[in-house]
Amino acid sequence: MTEVAILDGGRSLRLRAGKRSARFHAIWLRDNARDGETRSPQNGQRLIAVQDLPAATAVSAAEIRSGRLHVTFSPEGRTLDYEIPWLFGNAYDRPPPVREGWTGPQIETWERDSMPALPYARFETLRADSAALREWLERLIRYGVGRVGEGPVRVGALLEVVDLFGFVRETNYGRHFEVRAEVNPINLAFTGLGLPAHSDNPYRDPVPSVQVLYCLESSAAGGESRVVDGFRVAERLRDENREWFGLLSRYCARFEYAGQPGVVLRSRRPMIELAPDGELLAVRFNNRSMAAIRDVPYDEMEAYYAAYRRFGELAEDPQLGVEFSLSPGECFVIDNTRVLHARHAYSGAGRRWLQGCYADKDGILSTFAALSAGDSKDTP
Ligand code: FE2
Repeated sequence: MTEVAILDGGRSLRLRAGKRSARFHAIWLRDNARDGETRSPQNGQRLIAVQDLPAATAVSAAEIRSGRLHVTFSPEGRTLDYEIPWLFGNAYDRPPPVREGWTGPQIETWERDSMPALPYARFETLRADSAALREWLERLIRYGVGRVGEGPVRVGALLEVVDLFGFVRETNYGRHFEVRAEVNPINLAFTGLGLPAHSDNPYRDPVPSVQVLYCLESSAAGGESRVVDGFRVAERLRDENREWFGLLSRYCARFEYAGQPGVVLRSRRPMIELAPDGELLAVRFNNRSMAAIRDVPYDEMEAYYAAYRRFGELAEDPQLGVEFSLSPGECFVIDNTRVLHARHAYSGAGRRWLQGCYADKDGILSTFAALSAGDSKDTP
């Protein structure tokens, strides 16, 4: 049984269905009408701007009929109807979040003991089976990392992995780049040195939000990969020392890369990026490309460095990271705004050859949403 009641002289209404109850404002309802004059029937895009609606928009009548909510708005005098599940699915009548660094229900942070095996699928399965692709993408979104195995061992195969969910982001390193020991490398990644946990390219704005690292050869000793949930690192820091978490989220760090002629990439962003309501949006962490920090007040710089150090210690904590080796034809995909990656040093006989490329998360989220039944048709 669904009931509706007009509140505040028509400024809002309350919808009740069983135990569910939510209030909606008249202006919100009017703006979100789904009729053909408000939204394009072809592509779902909104045809009106908010300033086209009367500022004094109010509900003059409301009723439930044929399982839908019918609302008459004044002063327009129009009656528009709404799907009740859509309204409850988009309800906003709840207390604002109070905990800084919160994450949505689609995300689950992890550490070594809670992540016995990284999400995995065979390349051909992902290519041939859209249900398997959808499931793998869901886990990639949930954990920020996924592996793909039994792929082709050929140059550029990583681009075929990106084709599964999105588009390559070309950069000054190329459409894709080689990760192997080089003479006179333009980046320390292209050596046999070990690399502490980091996110890639924090000096770009916007930062590439997905990275794929694909193995073509792996006969060298060492070179194991490690991934760490940077969101879990941020949560641990918050729970240990709220002030330190605040410093890394409140003040911007600076990142720079100028290791190649004609390239000077700089960004000014916090190591822990929060939405205005405290949602954890991104971490940026990379010792190689940190520039001089100059946006932290003098009186807080020492504490900022203590917080920065602690973040780095947590990122290296063996309890947090998951280690694995890549064989030829295997790759891993990471949310580069969340999951940090590291590698052990490698040397001696044998070869280690990975190819890497960047892409963006919107492709992953879009492909997942399109493969999921009943997803929202709202568009920007
Ligand atoms: Fe990297």
